[in-house]
Amino acid sequence: MILRALNRKMTPEDFRNAKAEGLLIPTLTAYDYPSAKLMDEVGVPLLLVGDSLGMVRLGFPDTTHVTLDHMVLHTQSVTRAKPRSLIIADLPFGTYTDPVLAVSSAKRLMEAGADAVKAEGGKSIEDSVRAIVQAGIPFVGHLGMLPQSVKQEGGYRKKGRTQEERVRLLEDMRILEEAGAFAVVLELVIPDLAEDMTCSSEIPTIGIGSGAACDGQVLVIDDLVGSFPWFTPKFVKPLAQTGLAIQNAVREWMEVLDVGKAELDSAAEDKSDSLTHIDADGEARMVDVSAKPPQYRVAVAGGRLRVQPFVLDLIENQKIAKGNVLATARIAGIMAAKRTGDLIPLCHPLPITHCDVNLGFSPAREAIEVTASASIHASTGVEMEALTAVQVALLTLYDMLKAVDKNMVIEEVKLLSKTKSAAPPVK
Ligand code: KIV
Repeated sequence: MILRALNRKMTPEDFRNAKAEGLLIPTLTAYDYPSAKLMDEVGVPLLLVGDSLGMVRLGFPDTTHVTLDHMVLHTQSVTRAKPRSLIIADLPFGTYTDPVLAVSSAKRLMEAGADAVKAEGGKSIEDSVRAIVQAGIPFVGHLGMLPQSVKQEGGYRKKGRTQEERVRLLEDMRILEEAGAFAVVLELVIPDLAEDMTCSSEIPTIGIGSGAACDGQVLVIDDLVGSFPWFTPKFVKPLAQTGLAIQNAVREWMEVLDVGKAELDSAAEDKSDSLTHIDADGEARMVDVSAKPPQYRVAVAGGRLRVQPFVLDLIENQKIAKGNVLATARIAGIMAAKRTGDLIPLCHPLPITHCDVNLGFSPAREAIEVTASASIHASTGVEMEALTAVQVALLTLYDMLKAVDKNMVIEEVKLLSKTKSAAPPVK
């Protein structure tokens, strides 16, 4: 079972309790308002404004370039989302080297809206941790691979392989717990040592690349959702590809712009073929009718749904379980006529002034006949609107009757008339 954000602000105590109750603590990084809001809405209980933002948001090669001002800005952005999740903000490189500096840096992050701060190291920062906790600021430790020391360590390597490292990490864990940390992140700690560190303390461990025995798991959100596709740590399996999704959307938008531009250019250059759907390169395009004077236009279309005669009896006697078939089909046809420009790729979006759909039984009682008329005062005709109304009315009939007649056929859909005039048509 996992811990989910409660219906109130999460507190450090909730995470101690989660450990005691054996609830796993899901934790993700958040760097701004939308990501914090999205994650809070799905109940992530613990959010970390990690200094990893230096790499995945600011483009630095590592976290040592991140400043307190960067952290303040991003923490403010996250806290504006007012998440129920507890917000931990990272103290960046060089901002907690002595207790006085550590407290003043931690205060700036708290003023920016953080609920707790995190710093890297054990014994080496013990005095700073004690000062922060004494100042009343909730503190989270970070042991194992310490990204702010990557330059000294020469890379991101697993920790706890040697006996010396094991002893030191267990001791660091004890020191942090005793100094008042309410949780500790374990980064790239070999899993059996992470398990020992977890079992030897009462505060939760939150692992990243440190195996399944930790009390919680933390990931950089970009690694999880594929929004920083140029590098993904080996231990992460992305569950989405938002980077690719963004590129696909942008690519499609640029293609749409490209087509629009070609259309504008060809309209400006050559009017002779301006009333066809094909441009000089043989590409489909929408006809430019802006230079055509508006006229009163009416189109009428028709079609039929061939059914077995008993179906008409059922309709007449109102025995169709789905309700009033003819009335529903009439409304569906009118609504569809209004949406024709959305449905047919090169069709103009037209504000039709009238649409009428009529339904009746054929004299031989073997079909339902539909006619639709559409009217407009515009530069282009409305035959597509009338035809769309007929087709959708017929499809609606088909849908409502398919349970009683398996052999229906939609047939003879065609344009019956099309007129235009300078004066309004006489009714
Ligand atoms: O900065 C960060 O994102 C972190 C995680 C790797 C735990 O500290």
